[in-house]
Amino acid sequence: MKGAKVGALLLAGGFLLVAGCFKGGVLNRDLVFKNKNGDVVFSHVYHVKVKKQHCSYCHPKLFKKRFGADKFTMQDIWNGKYCGACHNGTKAFDAKNPKNCSRCHKQTGREKQ
Ligand code: HEC
Ligand code: HEC
Ligand code: HEC
Repeated sequence: MKGAKVGALLLAGGFLLVAGCFKGGVLNRDLVFKNKNGDVVFSHVYHVKVKKQHCSYCHPKLFKKRFGADKFTMQDIWNGKYCGACHNGTKAFDAKNPKNCSRCHKQTGREKQ
């Protein structure tokens, strides 16, 4: 019983924390990885809210919580690291498939940061 209560409190706390981060916060702003090959846009809103990827799937295991903190290349992704931990054709679309390059690398509609 007591355990359940603590669990519920933790859950509520986590929810408030997440809601706080999104509400007018940093997570609503997409991260744009500038790239000659076409900028890559990463959306927290899409991954967390639409695709239900929990924070702990990515932080701190795959990424630091600071934009630009991790230095990685396309080869790292193809080797299954960073974005490639999921974008391998199993959990999410395969970054090695030439048909999928443009799902991350956008040649049009760029925005200046
Ligand atoms: C699918 C992977 C993924 C998930 C899930 C995810 N993040 Fe991130 N997050 C990233 C990436 C990628 C970065 C940028 C890291 C870098 O550039 O080195 C980032 C950066 C951040 C930053 C820094 C933003 C900035 O502008 O500096 C914060 C804060 C953050 N995440 C919080 C969260 C929280 C809180 C959650 C859960 C609600 C979450 N993230 C879920 C991938 C994810
Ligand atoms: C899941 C998203 C994703 C997909 C799919 C993807 N890329 Fe990338 N790619 C990235 C990210 C993110 C970076 C930038 C890393 C950085 O700047 O820190 C990058 C960087 C690159 C670079 C710059 C040089 C380097 O090695 O970092 C090239 C070239 C590249 N990608 C080519 C491709 C090609 C070709 C494909 C398709 C076969 C592809 N990418 C598919 C996310 C993706
Ligand atoms: C924890 C797993 C996970 C990680 C890590 C992850 N993604 Fe995703 N991503 C997903 C899932 C799940 C989807 C939705 C399923 C799909 O489209 O295959 C998705 C979808 C996307 C889409 C939407 C494509 C479209 O067609 O609209 C983009 C763009 C994307 N991811 C980019 C990235 C980039 C860039 C990174 C690294 C900075 C990254 N993702 C890291 C799980 C992840």
